[in-house]
Amino acid sequence: MSLAASLLTYTAALAASAGSSGGGVHWGVVIDCGSSGSRARLYTWTDASSVVDEFTPTAPADEAALQIEPGLSSFAADPAGAGPYLSPLLAQAARWVPAAAHNSTRVQALATAGMRLLPAHAQARVWQAVERAIAQSAFGAAHAAGSAMTLSGEFEGLFNWMTIEYILARDPRAAESPYFGGLDLGGASTQISFRPADGVILQDAYRVRRGEEAYRLYSHSYMRFGQDQAKLRLAQLIYDTRASGGGEGAPLTNPCANTGLNENYTVDCGAPSRPCTRLFVGSGEHSACKELTATLLRLDSECLLAPCAAHGVYQPSVSGVHFFAISAFFYTANGLGLLGWSEEKGISAAEIDQAGAAFCAKPWAEVASRYATSYCFASAYIPLLLRAYGVPYEDQSFITFARKIRGFNSGWTYIYRTIRKSGSVDFLYLMSIF
Ligand SMILES: *[C@@H]1O[C@H](CO)[C@@H](O)[C@H](O)[C@H]1NC(C)=O
Ligand SMILES: *[C@@H]1O[C@H](CO)[C@@H](O)[C@H](O)[C@H]1NC(C)=O
Repeated sequence: MSLAASLLTYTAALAASAGSSGGGVHWGVVIDCGSSGSRARLYTWTDASSVVDEFTPTAPADEAALQIEPGLSSFAADPAGAGPYLSPLLAQAARWVPAAAHNSTRVQALATAGMRLLPAHAQARVWQAVERAIAQSAFGAAHAAGSAMTLSGEFEGLFNWMTIEYILARDPRAAESPYFGGLDLGGASTQISFRPADGVILQDAYRVRRGEEAYRLYSHSYMRFGQDQAKLRLAQLIYDTRASGGGEGAPLTNPCANTGLNENYTVDCGAPSRPCTRLFVGSGEHSACKELTATLLRLDSECLLAPCAAHGVYQPSVSGVHFFAISAFFYTANGLGLLGWSEEKGISAAEIDQAGAAFCAKPWAEVASRYATSYCFASAYIPLLLRAYGVPYEDQSFITFARKIRGFNSGWTYIYRTIRKSGSVDFLYLMSIF
């Protein structure tokens, strides 16, 4: 709560100092530093309205130029490289902001779980390089030290919830239940954030204010529970529990990959700890995959403050809460053919489980595509994760899967939003969907 308050104060200061180009239009740039890439988001707002718009270049090539790969966290061993990596992205962003507004446009670079995985000293060096790059960019005059940082997972979940709230509040259709939540499955972490129907939150409680309204929210982020990290943890588990026999370097069987899908994973080969790369050969066995995957959730961890979800983590009851599941939750359901790219649909854990069993049984040659490497694993993992959260297995209306919520272009985005009270800026907060 004090963290939330300090962030809000921090961003309020940012809003107050935000300058304006001609016509009273303010610009803001957010660099979303995800585990696999960085993306620049541009926002505009005026003093006359509480709405903050996202600016997107119309030409697809220009929009694509606002994204770069790989993720910022890949500069852990070469922090100085983070500057030259980010500078072209800042230059691309500067193309769209009127030159007269450059010196008043604040840039914030925020990273999520990819950076959280790095040791603190490595993060600090990367952020120093990022701050120098921002200070040397066209936006340098408006740069404030400390506006490049790693977000906590709980804030990531909180911002996701705020984004959903913002979208639902803008929607003229019938009001959603006030008790809703967000589920976000990223590459490195997964977040659950919601407003419990009974209002009781014993841990991981945050208070968010929007104008006259205040909400008490639960938000928890499970580190290394994101899709890519969970697959790595699975590879380690397979390595650790492998049947004896098979020489050093012998391939291992991965039931969570389609037959014909063979992947290298770097695991810890132990005694003493040392990284080694092993080939994991897909066998496409959904029920064996579920058995192994369930172990990753650590449901046997001691629950010291009940009720607990996964890993001994306290979580209030989800009863009476409606969830929106985005990012890899959506991509998996979409990849399994359960909903269309632009659809928004209630899907049960049972449906994902069943579609996953059918998908995993198919040879890789039949289903191969860039993103399909994760579908078999995720189709086993997602229903188990939802069960740990307390989501009813068969219920189709409990969770809405969506890339866009209510048609709002919300996928992988940050939204700046200003909330004004009696004409003055109350606070401005930054939200993200991953
Ligand atoms: C920003 O730049 C504009 C013109 O480019 C100039 O008029 C203005 O004084 C500058 N403001 C600051 C705070 O430097
Ligand atoms: C796995 O790594 C080995 C050794 O570097 C390489 O020869 C092989 O092609 C890799 N296999 C896959 C499926 O990436």
